[in-house]
Amino acid sequence: MKNLFSFNFFHRANLLPDYSFLGTDIHSHILPGIDDGAQTLTESFQLLNGLSELGFERFYATPHVIADRYPNTPETIQSALKKITDVISNRGDTFHVEAAAEYLIDESFEHLLDGKGIMTLPGKRVLIEMPFVAPSPNMEEYIFKLQVNGLHPVMAHPERYNYWQNETEEWKRVVKLGCELQVNLLSLFGYYGKGARNRAFDLINKGWVSFLATDIHNVQQLSVLKAGLKDRSVAKLLSEHEFFNNRL
Ligand SMILES: [Fe+2]
Repeated sequence: MKNLFSFNFFHRANLLPDYSFLGTDIHSHILPGIDDGAQTLTESFQLLNGLSELGFERFYATPHVIADRYPNTPETIQSALKKITDVISNRGDTFHVEAAAEYLIDESFEHLLDGKGIMTLPGKRVLIEMPFVAPSPNMEEYIFKLQVNGLHPVMAHPERYNYWQNETEEWKRVVKLGCELQVNLLSLFGYYGKGARNRAFDLINKGWVSFLATDIHNVQQLSVLKAGLKDRSVAKLLSEHEFFNNRL
């Protein structure tokens, strides 16, 4: 899908000026100390300030929910979020932070499928991820059950699952099931290797990607996002497609 507004926005310099064309980051690990993202409140604000300088204004913190590693619940997530929002209201920062979560869809996800106790993005969207070693055998069933319960799954970083990097038909099937796709900006810059970069470009060119996000975990990734603004092929790709971050 062509996006004439963003085409004009990028056209002058053929470069991305910043990420304000997205505005909202729907996938980030900025909450302090509850997963493998920011470990302290100081680090949370290093990430938030850095992303804000790069043009983002709204953030959905999406900590991992992985039963045996990060057994987060709405309570642990809300209490970590409060540490951030307390500082924001004291300082009067202009950016806005809310929380959802990133759910690993393994067997332990089953008890959340009824939607009770699940942290969602706007529009009752649920950010899900598959294991990196092999596809979730129950993925199709889980997507269907979420939908039956009025929820809308969004698959995080489809380009990063090595086992499906050459399996276009699998992604076509996921999209046909009504699952939205979210690509990581870092993938576009080669941060996770050539395979992920090529797959990200291909999924976007097929018009199957609804959202872009940072999936930021640490300050080092800020410099990759900043350097990426000089990547002309990414700027061209993104100028030719529309994303829905700002509609949430
Ligand atoms: Fe993530």
